[in-house]
Amino acid sequence: MTEKGYKRTLVTTALPYANGPVHIGHLAGVYVPADIYVRYLRLKKREVLFVGGSDEHGVPITIAAKKEGITPQDVVDKFHNLIKKSFEDFGISFDVYSRTTSKIHYETASDFFKKLYEKDCFIEKTSEQYYDEQVKQFLADRYITGTCPHCKNPNAYGDQCEACGTSLSPLDLIEPKSAISGSKPVLKETKHWYLPLENYQNWLEKWILKEHAEWKSNVYGQCKSWLDMGLQPRAVSRDLNWGIPLPIPDAEGKVLYVWFDAPIGYISNTKEIRPNDWELWWKNSETKLVHFIGKDNIVFHCIVFPSMLKADGSYILPDNVPANEFLNLESNKISTSKNWAVWLHEYLADFPEKQDILRYVLTANAPETKDNDFTWKDFQARNNSELVAIYGNFVNRTLVLTQKYFNGIVPERQEFTEYDKEVFAEIENGKLKIENHLENYHFREALKEAMNLARVGNKYLADTEPWKLAQTDMARVGTILNVSLQLCANLSIAFEPFLPFSSAKLRKMLNL
Ligand code: 2FM
Ligand code: ZN
Repeated sequence: MTEKGYKRTLVTTALPYANGPVHIGHLAGVYVPADIYVRYLRLKKREVLFVGGSDEHGVPITIAAKKEGITPQDVVDKFHNLIKKSFEDFGISFDVYSRTTSKIHYETASDFFKKLYEKDCFIEKTSEQYYDEQVKQFLADRYITGTCPHCKNPNAYGDQCEACGTSLSPLDLIEPKSAISGSKPVLKETKHWYLPLENYQNWLEKWILKEHAEWKSNVYGQCKSWLDMGLQPRAVSRDLNWGIPLPIPDAEGKVLYVWFDAPIGYISNTKEIRPNDWELWWKNSETKLVHFIGKDNIVFHCIVFPSMLKADGSYILPDNVPANEFLNLESNKISTSKNWAVWLHEYLADFPEKQDILRYVLTANAPETKDNDFTWKDFQARNNSELVAIYGNFVNRTLVLTQKYFNGIVPERQEFTEYDKEVFAEIENGKLKIENHLENYHFREALKEAMNLARVGNKYLADTEPWKLAQTDMARVGTILNVSLQLCANLSIAFEPFLPFSSAKLRKMLNL
């Protein structure tokens, strides 16, 4: 039992789109912090389930397929497998990593929609939308370009002009063009189902603004600004031939909007590994639900998905959504389409078995409160002057000295001095600080405290100089190394959530 009476924790991570590999921005923003949190909970022997998967629907996947002359299923098969492998390689310790094209997900998402439909939770609206007659497809806002009515930028998108930042609707664009075929789209009537978010406005204001004032300020602030603007109905269906068909009559050619089905993937993936007790994880108030996401997903996880869950009425709601800001790469925004990224599979090809270095750097420099920049210079500096010079150095000196003076056997200890006792107090104190930071999703601070413990070790060896005492007082040398080895053992635990590969190696060296 933990705070607020929770007995178990369900941790979800944003489902990455299966239209490209994953990069350091994904890892820093979502998967490494979630993995640290889960590994910590497991060390604390708490009951935890860690759920992930690929997001395999949506227009970009259909466009990628068209470009390559393959099917959308081919696209997602390729990237799902690549993404899954990258996560495994980096030690992201999912209990399940599934996908939204799974049979169980189709059933779960269809049933979810059907229940809301039958409860009359949706409104139906017919409107005119742009249609590309050449490719016979309605066009998502992003796939219509034209001239911005405000600043006359000729390359504005149907949802936003990136030159002047104005939000647009496709109908605002001057001389609209289909981004798929380049042709001039025509307006055509189409019917869609909408979730009337305005009906949830009052409830959301109370639930988020009053009852979750502890959420991170970036998350709380974004929710507040959405709520202050006033919520509008959101379409939950699309005209597309890729996705989960609407499970109702008169809806031919319509599928669930990708942002409706994707978060339901968290539920489907839980069902996949816990077919018999999945409801315990989703419908029991003693379960703590935590969503790890990037800042572009905040509205969906704090406003839209909770409204869907509330509409259903039988689900729990997230206790927290510790969203991160963005990681840039060498001062530029990471971009899949511009191929500006460090791809995880390519990193591992260049730095085989060096997962922990990247995990370390991405945590030490995590975009927890603001956008941060990844640079190779910082990567090198943190490796050389922190991982190697502090942590590695302390462990190495302790093990080498133990080997040299005691044949690698843990030496007997004599009575501890005041200094020795101080080291133990630092360990205890560091442990409390690390745990407190982790419970509050302050991963950078937690890592800093773990590194401080290694610093304590270095200082202890420098101050006590066992290599000098070895000429006069071997018993004291034994005690110093005994203390140092205990610190090493504690470091292997403190660093486990952050550097799981190195911790496993260290435990092996210590024969723990
Ligand atoms: O932004 C994205 O990459 C989305 N694919 C995240 C989906 S999260 C969830 F709802 F599944
Ligand atoms: Zn503009």
